[in-house]
Amino acid sequence: MTMVTNETVNNWVREMAEMTKPDEVVWIDGSDEQLEEIKKVALKTGEMIALNEEKLPGCLYYRTNPKDVARDEKRTLICTRKEEDAGPTNHWMAPVEMYAKLRKLFDGSMKGRVMYAIPFSMGVVGTDFAKYGVELTDSIYVVLSMAIMTRVGQPIIDKLNAGADFTKCLHSKAQVNEKEKYIVHFPEDNTIWSINSAYGGNVLLGKKCLALRIGSFLGRKEGWMAEHMLILKIEAPNGEKHYVCGAFPSACGKTNLAMLTPPDYFKKMGYKIQTVGDDISWLRVGDDGRLYAVNPENGFFGVAPGTNEKSNPNALKTTRKNTIFTNVARNLDDNTVWWEKLDKNPPENGEDWLGNPWNGKTSTEKGAHPNSRFTAPAENCPTIADEFFTGEGVPIDAIVFGGRRAKAEPLVYQSKSWDHGVFVGSAMTSETTAAAKGQVGVVRHDPMAMIPFCGYNMSDYFQHWIDMGKKMSDPPKIFHVNWFRTDEKDEFIWPGFGDNLRVLLWMLARCKGEADAVETPLGYEPRPEDIDTTDLDLDAEDLKKLLAIDKETWQDEIKGIEEFYSQFDKLPDEINEAFDALKKGVEAL
Ligand code: GDP
Ligand code: PGA
Ligand code: MN
Ligand code: MN
Repeated sequence: MTMVTNETVNNWVREMAEMTKPDEVVWIDGSDEQLEEIKKVALKTGEMIALNEEKLPGCLYYRTNPKDVARDEKRTLICTRKEEDAGPTNHWMAPVEMYAKLRKLFDGSMKGRVMYAIPFSMGVVGTDFAKYGVELTDSIYVVLSMAIMTRVGQPIIDKLNAGADFTKCLHSKAQVNEKEKYIVHFPEDNTIWSINSAYGGNVLLGKKCLALRIGSFLGRKEGWMAEHMLILKIEAPNGEKHYVCGAFPSACGKTNLAMLTPPDYFKKMGYKIQTVGDDISWLRVGDDGRLYAVNPENGFFGVAPGTNEKSNPNALKTTRKNTIFTNVARNLDDNTVWWEKLDKNPPENGEDWLGNPWNGKTSTEKGAHPNSRFTAPAENCPTIADEFFTGEGVPIDAIVFGGRRAKAEPLVYQSKSWDHGVFVGSAMTSETTAAAKGQVGVVRHDPMAMIPFCGYNMSDYFQHWIDMGKKMSDPPKIFHVNWFRTDEKDEFIWPGFGDNLRVLLWMLARCKGEADAVETPLGYEPRPEDIDTTDLDLDAEDLKKLLAIDKETWQDEIKGIEEFYSQFDKLPDEINEAFDALKKGVEAL
């Protein structure tokens, strides 16, 4: 391994080591040999467990503290010098104060442990999109997970030695102490400090912290966008290729849509779906006036429960080797893993996510935590697209916003323009899920699925979306979907998963001007007959229910949007105009 010769990097690492006082500092070179050695240490101390080498080669099991199983938004801060720059939707503290507080917590926090220095890249090293970082951590779980989720090692050291900018990331699992848990971003210093957590979303700092919070801040400054979006490639029977980005809040279906398996009928016709990304998109305007997206990650950090041979066979195959499973249940007979809805055969001789003996056949308790996760290399995915590996960006035809709403939101509608689409994104709502700490199933506003991830004032973020629209001569069309509408029996009406392709195909036809629609106060909606329901057990009545817009419900939605907007001092005129039009349209229903 070549030494790090960049003195800015070395001085910073020295300073952090003086504060956290590890026994030793070890640079990660990204080689399999070094990662194997480090893995052995975690297996020896019991921090991680090796799984069945025949059935799940290279796979590991990891368990976090029961109170530390999801992102913690209350403990996540954006520390800009001015409070208004973080905005009303972020937690904030003055950087001087926050640094002082954190320095006390980090003081000696790595005593008796090794500090690993992980040089990593978000995006393919050397491409226009790539951003580099170094994460310092005392957690082997973080080292092994970063090696899956990002590009790690020598090529990044070479970039740093050549003087590349980098994000300074510091993590210490310290005591895993609830009361002193902090995930803190200092966007103006390109710095992230995280302490007292071991849960992926809080500690794999390249992901939510860099690629979204710091990324969105940099994107605004530099004229690009960092978004909570999957990227999907659709190849039509005639060979035409289309790319779609989708922003849904955490645990609302991004990974599933990104790895969609077409229903047989469409497969036979020749439709193919490939995966470019499942969680994060970085977007730039190309010379041709279109919007181009890359997935800056190198792996998938996916929700395990609900993943099965029927719902998402591609995700399941992706996790069959070199994967880390967190907080799922274990089958002690054959040392494999299990989670709810994996199959109808839960282990009798099992261990639940808490490590307690668990009989899946008789127990009424869940075996896996609802936010249990797999961390798997993207290259394992049977549908991974070639474009993922070049990191050069794919031209986006459509952006899809979506939420989890039992009522109100119809299956799908198209916005009337880019600006109207920005309004639709800004007014997005969704029921909360287990992906973040707190109550589940509460409807909240989550603009562009970015409420937990926007690294600056959200009203400036809306303006940035409007401004990006002005830079494009051929912007993506913007849609809104809801796979989660329920009937009188509280059951999902729409079959979802692979069948979501039917809705995507209507969208693509709209992009090409080849499909009909009716104008509603929300935008353009398909008529029931515009959605291809061949082989589907769904009648026109069901589709009508899925597409219905109820006046009273929408009067309430409007109140909700008004209340949400009231926290912002200013909103782009384009948003106010679109909101006024919605109010008028709903009144006229
Ligand atoms: P992500 O966190 O946004 O990537 O969401 P996932 O794709 O991991 O899905 C989260 C949860 O929603 C899982 O339990 C899925 O089984 C479920 N889910 C995903 N897509 C659909 C869908 O189209 N319909 C229904 N009913 N559930 C879905
Ligand atoms: P998700 O990613 O969007 O796949 O749930 C993790 C998260 O948002 O915490
Ligand atoms: Mn996410
Ligand atoms: Mn996901």
